[in-house]
Amino acid sequence: MRILVIGSGGREHALVWKLAQSRRVSQLYCAPGNAGIEALAPCVPIQAEAIAELKAFAQSERIDLTIVGPEAPLALGIADEFRKAKLKIFGPTKGAARIESSKVFAKEVMAAAGIPTATARSFDKVGPALEYLDRHALPVVVKADGLAQGKGVVVAMTREQARQAVTDLLEKRIFGEACRQVLIEEFLDGEELTVMAFTDGKTIVPMLPAQDHKRVGDGDTGPNTGGMGAYAPAPLGTPALRDAVMKQILLPVVEALLRRGCPFQGVLYAGLMVVNNRPYVLEFNARMGDPETQAVLPLLKTDLVEVVEAVVEHRLDQLAVEWHPDTAVCVVLTSAGYPGSYRTGFPIHGLPEHNASDDTLVFHAGTKRQGGEIVTAGGRVLGVIGRGTGLAQARDRAYRTARTISFEGCHFRTDIAARALSACG
Ligand code: AMP
Ligand code: GLY
Repeated sequence: MRILVIGSGGREHALVWKLAQSRRVSQLYCAPGNAGIEALAPCVPIQAEAIAELKAFAQSERIDLTIVGPEAPLALGIADEFRKAKLKIFGPTKGAARIESSKVFAKEVMAAAGIPTATARSFDKVGPALEYLDRHALPVVVKADGLAQGKGVVVAMTREQARQAVTDLLEKRIFGEACRQVLIEEFLDGEELTVMAFTDGKTIVPMLPAQDHKRVGDGDTGPNTGGMGAYAPAPLGTPALRDAVMKQILLPVVEALLRRGCPFQGVLYAGLMVVNNRPYVLEFNARMGDPETQAVLPLLKTDLVEVVEAVVEHRLDQLAVEWHPDTAVCVVLTSAGYPGSYRTGFPIHGLPEHNASDDTLVFHAGTKRQGGEIVTAGGRVLGVIGRGTGLAQARDRAYRTARTISFEGCHFRTDIAARALSACG
């Protein structure tokens, strides 16, 4: 099979790494890819949102299957365009991807289907939103309706912060169309958990539960980022909790989308807050999470091509998806200043040549080749994955390798998976 992966981050490197192990694959491409992906698959200089060019490439290169990493092309309707052209693609249609691209739509679906989530109201005018805020308990959460690269959520501790967030979104329109509407949402106090699931629109196969670390600094301090690290399986995702997530969240949402005429096909990501052992939805994403994918995919035993094909051909019920019993920890190395402004172009030292061992893997995110060297090219630069028979071993392996890699301004959190480790004893 000839496969095209779309995207350029650590998630896509993990996808390409896993696909490259499949005997079913004869040729792999990635668009646009990065300096790490290049070692496994030719990288095509087409941006992930350039749907017409991607379609032309898939046609001219006789691609049998396209796998979409990021949300932006899905929200723009890449799956619809490819299917119209009879090209096989793994990822939801624009309609189904609204579960991520419109938080107001997601809340409506959840309310109608009785899915546990934070109570919220939507507003498109500043006046009523501010009036509602004045009566709301603190902390309170203000969210832009649309895609804002993870920056559209403010957890406000004071009324002043909340008012500022509402004004920034509804009046100043800092995220343009994405903030034509806002949600004002109840604050949930608990532990976050990510459950991603493969689904063909009917059958749902959950992946191992994972936990992301969103804040930039140790001890969950500083601003939110795209993700500073992750581990899987997260002990918080007990069998009872996984069962509740399946019955109360995944099954009803997939069924609701089917009933609304937009069946979901691809990976559905449930971002959860676990409060008193009960799962509540913070958000749905219409694709795999990053960095969670970097910790979860190395633990997938089944050939990923088999899984993806079963989804695309609507026969996921006939496949047994298996996982390795190990644990994986991913530590993200970032550029100084991220998630704010940062500089790029610094040479990266100490990078392992190949991902030869299964014990540690290095997935590239913001990297590029410049002359003979690999240099930094983004905020999140690398994901270093340690794998082992338990959290302690996996974590130790990840950090040991992370410390051998250096570039100017390199930053990483030193407490990825630390809380879970101490909770496990
Ligand atoms: P979201 O993009 O909706 O997942 O929000 C980004 C982050 O904001 C989440 O990972 C949480 O850390 C936080 N957050 C979002 N909604 C809530 C909520 N209702 N209560 C507490 N924290 C929240
Ligand atoms: N790890 C959060 C996300 O992928 O959106």
